[in-house]
Amino acid sequence: MNEEALEKTIKAGEILKQVFKLLEDKVVVGAKLLEVAEFAENKILELGAKPAFPCNISINSDAAHFTPAKNDQRTFKKGDLVKIDLGAHIDGYIADMAVSIDLGDHSELIKASKEAVFNAIDAIKVGVDTAKLGKIIEETIRSYGFKPVVNLTGHGLMPYIAHAPPSIYNYATQRGVELKEGMVIAIEPFATNGVGRVAERGECEIYSLLNPKPVRLRMVREMLNEISEKYKTLPFAKRWLKKAPEIFISKLVREGVLRDYPVLSEVSGGIVSQWEHTVIVEKDSARLVTL
Ligand code: CO
Repeated sequence: MNEEALEKTIKAGEILKQVFKLLEDKVVVGAKLLEVAEFAENKILELGAKPAFPCNISINSDAAHFTPAKNDQRTFKKGDLVKIDLGAHIDGYIADMAVSIDLGDHSELIKASKEAVFNAIDAIKVGVDTAKLGKIIEETIRSYGFKPVVNLTGHGLMPYIAHAPPSIYNYATQRGVELKEGMVIAIEPFATNGVGRVAERGECEIYSLLNPKPVRLRMVREMLNEISEKYKTLPFAKRWLKKAPEIFISKLVREGVLRDYPVLSEVSGGIVSQWEHTVIVEKDSARLVTL
């Protein structure tokens, strides 16, 4: 990892930490999800980075990929387990972090995923197999009597790629990938009192540019230009675009031009907690980016 990459990744992490600090008194019963999302995204910009993806606010059984739509009126409710997942980047160098905020009585479930992150990070150094991290994460979560969500993973971070290899599974797999010096990775366990699997539930507000191609319609061309200039290959929210006609968006997804990120929800309706930190793999330890 060169000096520039290191500096920018660390700075992006510093900014995320500050934003999460400010979010603590924003995520309260009665507050609007949209206001929280926009506050977080604007704060990242104000502090000198850019959002690496839309502010994800996943509540209760939702585990990932929910971001409020332009006119979303939803508010946080008493009893909610709220997951906020944010990414910040500077010139493509990304830091990724998520926390769970308890508006109910979910402290054990939250502790399970939070402790899993810290236990995994403790084991990180050059040469460690990601399968070992998965085992640590699974054992920690099970020690609380919960299950890891098996089809959501931690991941690598590469310039302008928010989900790069290796995938870091949240359970013990046969074999993983050996960690190398300078890898930027996000450890991201999800714990649940459900069966431990998520599936799409239909709603979708997040997309990314997958495979650009020339298009005839001016309105669509302008939309794709806006996306590639501002967000490159990083995920964006529909509400970030000047115009985003649903009919064209779904057509572009079918044609493989855009990738969609539908909301992922626990299949049995279980409540899900999440915790995530970004680190850089060093010879004998992990260098902490977001903590
Ligand atoms: Co992540």
